[in-house]
Amino acid sequence: REEDNNADAPFFKIILIGDSGVGKSNLLSRFCHNKFTLQFNSTIGVEYTTKTLTIHGHPIMAQIWDTSGHTKLRPITDAYYRGAAGALLVYDVTRHITFVNTHKWLADLRNHADPNMVVTLVGNKSDVRQSVMVSTEVGKSFAEKESLYFVETSALRATNVEHAFTDLVANIY
Ligand code: GTP
Ligand code: MG
Repeated sequence: REEDNNADAPFFKIILIGDSGVGKSNLLSRFCHNKFTLQFNSTIGVEYTTKTLTIHGHPIMAQIWDTSGHTKLRPITDAYYRGAAGALLVYDVTRHITFVNTHKWLADLRNHADPNMVVTLVGNKSDVRQSVMVSTEVGKSFAEKESLYFVETSALRATNVEHAFTDLVANIY
């Protein structure tokens, strides 16, 4: 049975970080359940979803953790980061402040996380073309400077969401 095979699969903890409202939970629900919610329900506490991915023909278990982007609602920083092999650091391309704050998130990550952690910078809401405040070039060059992978996504349109998660895991594996 598939579940039995998966029990032997390598296992990676992945974390979602970034400001409140950038779309972390919707990226996760789009990826794991092909679901998107227009209404904003800020995450309370910590949740995780486990999904088996196929990377170069091999099953890999990804345990993807999600929490609030409000730092005050995140008293468990150490436990959240502990053991994580990869992170999606998400900003909202229509809100410049969320991009500025990726600097803080990165500093936090480098303080708490494994130095070998693989990080992808994710510019989400790429569907809202007319109000883009952070250009692809600006996002990409920051990622290059900080040695991060880079992708622009839309959880709403399901653009690059699969890529964002599977490429991260492939880069860890
Ligand atoms: P916290 O849990 O508070 O940290 O927020 P979050 O980062 O989990 O954001 P969430 O996924 O809840 O999304 C916030 C709002 O942005 C919701 O109203 C979503 O519908 C909307 N949203 C998320 N992704 C996209 C996207 O790709 N495009 C557009 N247009 N809206 C999006
Ligand atoms: Mg959330």
